[in-house]
Amino acid sequence: MFVRSLPLLWLCFWSSQSLYRVPLKTFSGKLNWSVLLELSASRRNQSASGHGLSLASDPAGNVNFLNMVDNLEGDAGRGYYLQMVIGTPGQTLNILVDTGSSNFAVASAPHPYISAYFNRDLSSTYRTNGMSVSVRYTQGDWQGELGSDRITIPHGPNGTIVINIAAILTSDDFFLPGIKWQGILGLAYSSLARPDSSVVPFFDSLVKQTGIPDVFSLQMCGEGFSTSTSTEPADGSLIMGGLEPTLYQGSMWYTPILQEWYYQVEVLKLEVGEKNLNLDCREYNSDKAIVDSGTTLLRLPVKVFDAVVEAITQMSILQDSSSGFFSGSKLACWVKGETPWEFFPKISIYLRATNTSQSFRLAIFPQLYIHLVGDIDSTLNCFRFGISSSTNGLVIGATVMEGFYVAFDRTHKQVGFAVSTCAASNGIPVAEITGPFLAEGVAASCAERGQELQEPLMWLVAYTLMALCALVLLIVLALTLAPCKRRRRDREITDESSLVRNRIK
Ligand SMILES: *[C@@H]1O[C@H](CO)[C@@H](O)[C@H](O)[C@H]1NC(C)=O
Ligand SMILES: *[C@@H]1O[C@H](CO)[C@@H](O)[C@H](O)[C@H]1NC(C)=O
Ligand SMILES: *[C@@H]1O[C@H](CO)[C@@H](O)[C@H](O)[C@H]1NC(C)=O
Ligand SMILES: *[C@@H]1O[C@H](CO)[C@@H](O)[C@H](O)[C@H]1NC(C)=O
Repeated sequence: MFVRSLPLLWLCFWSSQSLYRVPLKTFSGKLNWSVLLELSASRRNQSASGHGLSLASDPAGNVNFLNMVDNLEGDAGRGYYLQMVIGTPGQTLNILVDTGSSNFAVASAPHPYISAYFNRDLSSTYRTNGMSVSVRYTQGDWQGELGSDRITIPHGPNGTIVINIAAILTSDDFFLPGIKWQGILGLAYSSLARPDSSVVPFFDSLVKQTGIPDVFSLQMCGEGFSTSTSTEPADGSLIMGGLEPTLYQGSMWYTPILQEWYYQVEVLKLEVGEKNLNLDCREYNSDKAIVDSGTTLLRLPVKVFDAVVEAITQMSILQDSSSGFFSGSKLACWVKGETPWEFFPKISIYLRATNTSQSFRLAIFPQLYIHLVGDIDSTLNCFRFGISSSTNGLVIGATVMEGFYVAFDRTHKQVGFAVSTCAASNGIPVAEITGPFLAEGVAASCAERGQELQEPLMWLVAYTLMALCALVLLIVLALTLAPCKRRRRDREITDESSLVRNRIK
């Protein structure tokens, strides 16, 4: 089998420049998205969810989780989106679910690549607050105006809430051809909100106004590992207010949220196959490690990425790591009917457990990180590498999340992972969780957050600088009789949005 398949491997010289940038999500050109959408995952056992087994998780009875099951559509490439009804009377729009940013922003003017937008003039409850907001991404940006309005979520908690809305008026490379959403729902913490953290994010408003628990969970089922001919779009679930037991198997393992901005977690170790990469654990968290539904790929700091590619090259039949496959510039193709998965190792990520002297391991199989790419050729199945290098931290993106049901337990400041019921290819699991492991031999902290300030010398330097600044400020104030009117400048986001980090490559 192995030998027979060898000559069948092509490295397609798919020269399209857009493929180089590919992240599926941003691809705008030649691939046929409808074909990709047909390759939906093997699905959750539908029959299991129909019997109200899950209601126990909501003691107050306010939230009907079953109503929220399957409330998402989309895929890792173009993102998962939720239907929301905005304004009075309601305007129904699709909103991308992004745990890597914190603004709720929606198209409020026509754009060639979107089919609908939120028309503020038609909503009697829309209130503008006159502030402008502008978010610039490494690639792409949007500008708009801050306001608020009432929204309801048809497949969400019962009720209408008032939330902050950034009305997108102009944008550049933000809406792309082929996307089916018209706005973005940032589910991270307020410190990432723009123009500043006083703009209360959606989920904080939802919790406050409906009284649901401060927890949400995500199941994303769009992985294209099934070559079924189903025309059903891939789906997923955003459960607001708790966990829906029918969406996962086995135990939920929790890792602490190190800092509440992104969902920042601590990665202790990486393995390719059974081989420990053996890097200093700080490399894995340089300069942060986050869980982000708005990023398509698993993104690894450059040093870690290089080590992973080297290890995979040694274990797979892709002997030449310079071939362009790993850098994302080329696809690897097999004749139809063959799949490459048996030639690639599983990849394991160890996360710090809530008992900090322990860890647990998320393992993803190649079905999750070697992505089938539409119909390139009638005789070939072509695949792209679902891992890329990153200069702004490790990102556990949709590629990994599709293997798991992920709980964002903000109440207890922790993120939970359990094997997702839809993470199976023809009944064979493509993700697993094991633990606990002893975290001995791992530094007490692998994350960089605040470390430099723990040094007494650095404290001294910091305080000295602060004192100096205060002094300068006093002098400036004394010299300036007229009050200094600061212009509100729209801040630029450098790497807050995942959506965008995903677009860079
Ligand atoms: C995409 O694929 C579908 C199904 O094979 C086909 O009907 C459609 O015409 C294709 N669209 C484009 C733009 O190639
Ligand atoms: C899926 O549903 C079928 C039909 O109800 C049932 O027989 C089967 O045990 C279920 N499988 C799982 C894994 O729950
Ligand atoms: C929400 O719940 C209230 C009280 O149970 C009910 O009267 C109302 O019709 C519900 N609304 C929706 C949209 O289900
Ligand atoms: C935490 O893990 C260590 C090592 O396995 C164990 O000895 C200790 O009892 C655990 N602590 C708690 C509170 O479970």
